[in-house]
Amino acid sequence: MDLKVYMVKGSYHQKPFRREVMRTYGASVTPSPSDTTEVGRRILAAHPDTTGSLGCAISEAVEYAVTHEGYRYVLGSVLNQVLLHQSVIGLEAKTAMDKYGIRPDIIIGCAGGGSNLGGLIAPFMGEKLRGEADYQIIAIEPASCPSFTRGKYAYDFCDTGMICPLAKMYTLGSDFIPSPNHAGGLRYHGMSPILSELYHQGLMEARSVEQTSVFEAAEYFARIEGILPAPESSHAIRVALDEAMRCKQTGEEKTILFGLTGTGYFDLKAYEEYNDGTMTDYIPTDEDLARSLEKLPKMD
Ligand SMILES: Cc1ncc(COP(=O)(O)O)c(C=O)c1O
Repeated sequence: MDLKVYMVKGSYHQKPFRREVMRTYGASVTPSPSDTTEVGRRILAAHPDTTGSLGCAISEAVEYAVTHEGYRYVLGSVLNQVLLHQSVIGLEAKTAMDKYGIRPDIIIGCAGGGSNLGGLIAPFMGEKLRGEADYQIIAIEPASCPSFTRGKYAYDFCDTGMICPLAKMYTLGSDFIPSPNHAGGLRYHGMSPILSELYHQGLMEARSVEQTSVFEAAEYFARIEGILPAPESSHAIRVALDEAMRCKQTGEEKTILFGLTGTGYFDLKAYEEYNDGTMTDYIPTDEDLARSLEKLPKMD
């Protein structure tokens, strides 16, 4: 069977090497929104210059799968089963820390749809919910797509074309198209329903950070650790550094666990922009958010 990928148009151009890895392994990759689907054509008619979003790509992939014989659709984030798969990250981290008798005080992860963070915190959150231990857990999102920190907890569509089921989650509205931030994997209008409920109950926190400060942290980390992090992961690094510096100032001793989700070698175009000083930050205005939030499905 052919592997067909709808890749967010912004990422298709900003991350050509991620695209080429997929093509090398046999996938055909289409920049989304595209004119290959009904929903893509509708989105393009309304927003001809859009750089797309994960919500648009999901709509196109679902439409393609249901209209082509032999195709199945898979989503790599947001949904409960994806968090369950990614809990291997938390299980391994916890096993490694237990082996050395270390307990994290703070756990930090970047949050796009919430799967790596959901997986990382899974065993720790279990302990927290059972009252066996306490951890400070912080989700980090881009200031350009602040689902947790400025979104609403409501039923919403998982995709821009409104063809997927509704989920109760923190959302900016399925119509929200974030600015083309380089952390393409964090440009999702909603958030995992599991993490949304945990956040809603005050069991975890969230912070948003701007991309230039994220790349500043990424470069610092690369120079100290010799590891070039992905822009998405660097959101977590930003706050891990901030927390470490805060501890240095206050003299507190804290163990910080953060998720390093990917390599930055596919994102050197973004590093180039940062190094050339041409990177900008776009933070949506309250009016931008109100426009998409007012289109949330009415539930009564
Ligand atoms: C390197 C990297 N880290 C993190 C994420 C965020 O996804 P999630 O919040 O589902 O873990 C992505 C998404 O594409 C990614 O590419």
